[in-house]
Amino acid sequence: MTRKVYLDNAATTPVSSEVLNEMLPCFNLLYGNSSSIHSFGREAAAIVDRARDRIAAAINAKNANEIYFTSGGSEADNWAVKGIAHAYANKGKHIITSKIEHSAVLEACHALENEGFEVTYLPVDKYGLVSIAELMHAIRKDTTLISIMAVNNEVGTIQNIKTIAKTAHENGIIFHTDAVQALGAVKLDVQDMEIDAMSISSHKIYGPKGAGALYLKNGIRIDSLISGGNQERGKRGGTLNVPAIAGFGKAAEIAVRDLVINQQKLRSIREYFLSKVKENIEYIHVNGHPQQKIQGTVSISFEMIEGESILMLLDLEGVAVSTSSACTSNILQPSHVLRAMGIEDEIAQGTIRFSFGKNISKADVDYAVEVLTNAVKKLRAISPITKAGRR
Ligand SMILES: Cc1ncc(COP(=O)(O)O)c(C=O)c1O
Repeated sequence: MTRKVYLDNAATTPVSSEVLNEMLPCFNLLYGNSSSIHSFGREAAAIVDRARDRIAAAINAKNANEIYFTSGGSEADNWAVKGIAHAYANKGKHIITSKIEHSAVLEACHALENEGFEVTYLPVDKYGLVSIAELMHAIRKDTTLISIMAVNNEVGTIQNIKTIAKTAHENGIIFHTDAVQALGAVKLDVQDMEIDAMSISSHKIYGPKGAGALYLKNGIRIDSLISGGNQERGKRGGTLNVPAIAGFGKAAEIAVRDLVINQQKLRSIREYFLSKVKENIEYIHVNGHPQQKIQGTVSISFEMIEGESILMLLDLEGVAVSTSSACTSNILQPSHVLRAMGIEDEIAQGTIRFSFGKNISKADVDYAVEVLTNAVKKLRAISPITKAGRR
């Protein structure tokens, strides 16, 4: 049987057993609707309250009522960007974001542009960092919102969030950050970092899929995205997904409890992996910031071959990774992130994201590197592009 090695933890993670145990009774024993007034409902509401407290503690929110549950990171991003922009539209209709945001933020911005808002998409440097000088330059009198991600999902670069938030506040602007890839990987303290709104997601931190949250500092206004009942203090309609929320709360508690130890382990795995890859494979580029990065995500461009072909050969041998490009109408489009970092399309197209999980072993890395080395060798042997030019 083929060995299976999962190196796509930035896409999603397995639910950990502690999290699963927290969730299981919510499916068939404590199954009330958390909005119901009777004892079944009150039991479910207590589970939701506990999860809300755990998440608030994990990000050091001042008050648990600043946590609003959503269906995931994409909803939280859409809600923050559209909801805040709409709530403050009478003050101004200009928003600042970056070119390397997740599509949930970028598409929300595009939707606002169609409504007459103006959006500035900040460039990044070759490491994927937003420049504070460029940010300051982009700020206008009618800017109401700055949305910059905390950690990039493709290359793992960590932004200078505290400085960006400070710059926003000095200019009377609200600051939102997509921290989906940051939770569990870097310390998040919304009070210390002066964050007004922050998106997080459960399934990236060993919690279940379909649960996330928007942290919204008390006093910040937001229009609803989902109208309905009076759930989430009237701001987000819909019966709460109690099992997933229970799991998310537990997962967030564990992610913060084990952050340092997990990152230490991932650092040594990353170094081991990179040294073995460099030892075995030539003509590669490691993307992202050399220091300001999370440990679990490694983006590598392999010259002269396409990422999709590497992915497929690895998949045949049981190794799961992801590419950085999106396939639209049969045209391979290099990732918007790598493009914004100034990486040439031909090199960007040969990019693979390896994202390690907390339970990975050195034997898994050895196997993955062996399979990768063979795949790259095979593909380069038949590639129309060679170091000497096109065949
Ligand atoms: C940076 C970032 N933002 C948002 C999301 C979307 O989160 P979800 O899958 O919970 O909708 C992801 C997931 O890939 C992400 O990496």
